[in-house]
Amino acid sequence: MDAIAVRGGRPLRGTIRVGGAKNAALPILCATLLSDGESLLRNVPGLRDIDTTSALLGFLGRDVTVAVPEVRVAAATREARPEAPYELVRQMRASVLVLGPLLARYGRAKVSLPGGCAIGARPIDQHLKGLEALGATIEVSHGYVIAKAGRLRGAEIVFDLPTVTGTENLLMAAALAKGRTTLINCAREPEVEELARVLNKMGARVEGAGTTTIHVTGADELEPFDHAVVSDRIEAGTFMAAVGAAGGDVLLENAPLEDLEPVIVKLRHAGLFIEREGSHVRVVREGPLRAVDVTTAPHPGFPTDMQAQLMAMMCVAEGRCVLTETIFENRFMHVPELCRMGADIEIRNNTAFVQGVKSLSGASVMATDLRASASLIIAGLVAEGETTVRRVYHLDRGYERIEVKLAGAGAQIERVRLEGPP
Ligand code: EPU
Repeated sequence: MDAIAVRGGRPLRGTIRVGGAKNAALPILCATLLSDGESLLRNVPGLRDIDTTSALLGFLGRDVTVAVPEVRVAAATREARPEAPYELVRQMRASVLVLGPLLARYGRAKVSLPGGCAIGARPIDQHLKGLEALGATIEVSHGYVIAKAGRLRGAEIVFDLPTVTGTENLLMAAALAKGRTTLINCAREPEVEELARVLNKMGARVEGAGTTTIHVTGADELEPFDHAVVSDRIEAGTFMAAVGAAGGDVLLENAPLEDLEPVIVKLRHAGLFIEREGSHVRVVREGPLRAVDVTTAPHPGFPTDMQAQLMAMMCVAEGRCVLTETIFENRFMHVPELCRMGADIEIRNNTAFVQGVKSLSGASVMATDLRASASLIIAGLVAEGETTVRRVYHLDRGYERIEVKLAGAGAQIERVRLEGPP
């Protein structure tokens, strides 16, 4: 089993290239189901979640060629099988993103319920409610969502709360619906805007993405597309937090600065210098690291996907800070592992109180989810001695060769093989 071994104590210096955004690429890959032609997606990161989505599209009857950074989804030649089995969906919750496109394109879909995961219960009631409003009949039986519809019809849908994949599923369904759909209380994440750009390339009319109200005028048929995925704001933010913790001076190539504004504001308060240099971003931390309070919120608030990495940085900051998680009910699984490395963190309900310590000490720790894995690596970069992060299959879902990228900036980090159980 793979693990990541980090020897801490070296500042990061050099250049790190930020790859394409996982959470933008996944819905766009699912959008290929809306058309019969051949689509090409460029700037795709080499990740396990991309492989899982490609396998799912293959199961659904498409020929998918993954040659990272490109993924080609061929024109539909085989008969479609609009069914996403548990085996694939359980590997990746985002598989639920095929529900909207399948229903819109084939009038039926059978998709396994994703179930909860390490970070929370994560229901999909808003996805289902929205699809019903577009005219689908939905039954949940034996762990599957079974949806049927004639041609979907545009409708007005109000989300009870902003959901990223819920908004994306509805955008894709509405793109082939008859007439105009208005989605209210939408998620405003940049990945929603990116999907809207693709749907517009395909021939739908999507207006207002990036705001809370989105209008979609559906098309009778949609065209295939050629699209390069935006850079990954969370990967970029993770490297910024790594520089924050370890210190140093790094140029992040292709970092999407605007999408990261809520993170950058906090990192600057913490003592980081972050400035644009052309299409790149320079990140420097030479002075002391200060504690900053953060509450996660839907975009444009501070992203929950950066909470764990910021916490690792705060473990070695001067002073005490309060980190509150409002999106997922169980996203502090990294805390006991950080404490094993000497961090001083107390959790009360959805709030973590972090008292900065002078130093962390390397230890063997276990990753519990994707962003928790990144936070443990960041802690390892600043800890004394060696840290071994186990269960890196979580990491490989969403970070492309992070150890190679960090080693390129001077970190002592490598992938190792461990014997025994994970
Ligand atoms: N929610 C409901 N009902 C729904 C849908 C969501 O109650 O029908 C709740 C969730 O339980 C949660 C909140 O709404 O409390 C927001 O969840 P959301 O639906 O926005 O999350 P998601 O779409 O499942 C995406 C990202 C996550 C990221 C969240 C929040 C993708 C593929 N995943 O998940 O990314 O944390 O938005 O920004 O886009 C990650 O990359 O590590 C990751 C977990």
